[in-house]
Amino acid sequence: MTILGIETSCDETAAAVVQDGRVVLSNTVASSVEEQALYGGVVPEIASRRHIESISGVVATALKDAHLAVQDVDAVAVTAAPGLIGAVLVGVNFAKGLAFAAQKPLVPVHHLRGHVASLYLGSPALAPPFFCLVASGGHCHFVQVQGYTGFTVWGRTVDDAAGEAFDKVARALHLGYPGGPAIAKAAEGANPAAYPLPTPKTEGAYDVSFSGLKTAALNVVNTAAMKGEAVDIPALAASFQQKVADILCDTLFRAAQAAGQRVVGLAGGVAANALLREKVAARAAAEGMVLHLAPLQYSGDNAAMIAAQGYYEYLAGHTAGPGLNGYASWPMEEDFPG
Ligand code: KG4
Ligand code: ZN
Repeated sequence: MTILGIETSCDETAAAVVQDGRVVLSNTVASSVEEQALYGGVVPEIASRRHIESISGVVATALKDAHLAVQDVDAVAVTAAPGLIGAVLVGVNFAKGLAFAAQKPLVPVHHLRGHVASLYLGSPALAPPFFCLVASGGHCHFVQVQGYTGFTVWGRTVDDAAGEAFDKVARALHLGYPGGPAIAKAAEGANPAAYPLPTPKTEGAYDVSFSGLKTAALNVVNTAAMKGEAVDIPALAASFQQKVADILCDTLFRAAQAAGQRVVGLAGGVAANALLREKVAARAAAEGMVLHLAPLQYSGDNAAMIAAQGYYEYLAGHTAGPGLNGYASWPMEEDFPG
């Protein structure tokens, strides 16, 4: 079965064609990240406008690269939540029009379920149940994946998402946007123990918090400025990155064990972080657990993961009519209205 996936929830206009949830026939992305970088973050209005300008061409390219016409696909899958609402609606409305015109089923996909499905693109034998951390710019969820469309969230961030914390600290250190790759690059070869940062406490055993950690990093910068001292930027970037990676890794394995899962996955934009990947791999090896990492080309936002999850949603009968709406937020455990 061949699914066309469409993703416009943030600053990437993306379309892809995926076969049976596993084989990527094409994967196209037009990003407004360079323009967004001028403003130090995503400006929703700019994102929406760029989606409108790019979406027809991006979808046409994805079909062309897969050597298919829209009549050849079995369904059109689209991210229906969560995300910047103006951005989400561009994809949803385009997908609705396309599905209607081509007389194809329309499949709404939750963006975070899509991130989970990015694991299938790199691990052909992976099947639920397993336990997964989805860490992105907007979310940080510790998720038990019981089935392809069955999820239980064991923990989440109580404030900033991990990627958001990277972005904010990078901004304060004048390292640029997006912050995750910038901090990772600045931290290369630097001493991660140079600036001791606190481990934030949370009420929920598997919840995490990054706001206080971000403030602690910013305080280092502000205090040094007041005293007229220089901050060792690479060392602060390394200390911050180390702390975030430790918190994510520790919580992932504690939650997975509590959920009785021996297979773990790492997905979302932050899953591209090399230190986090190393730490999670070492911990999995030490605990004798099986680890699946999202392939680097599918860890950030893309439409292949939406088409992959769309396949499983379609098999589960989760299609929608022309009344489909887009949502800024929606629990990943809940299906969309049909
Ligand atoms: O999943 P994603 O592409 O978009 C959302 O759904 O939010 O995640 C983007 C986030 C950004 O905050 C970015 O700074 C972070 O992922 N990120 C990283 C790395 N690459 C991207 N964070 C840490 N290390 C990286 N190498
Ligand atoms: Zn994402």
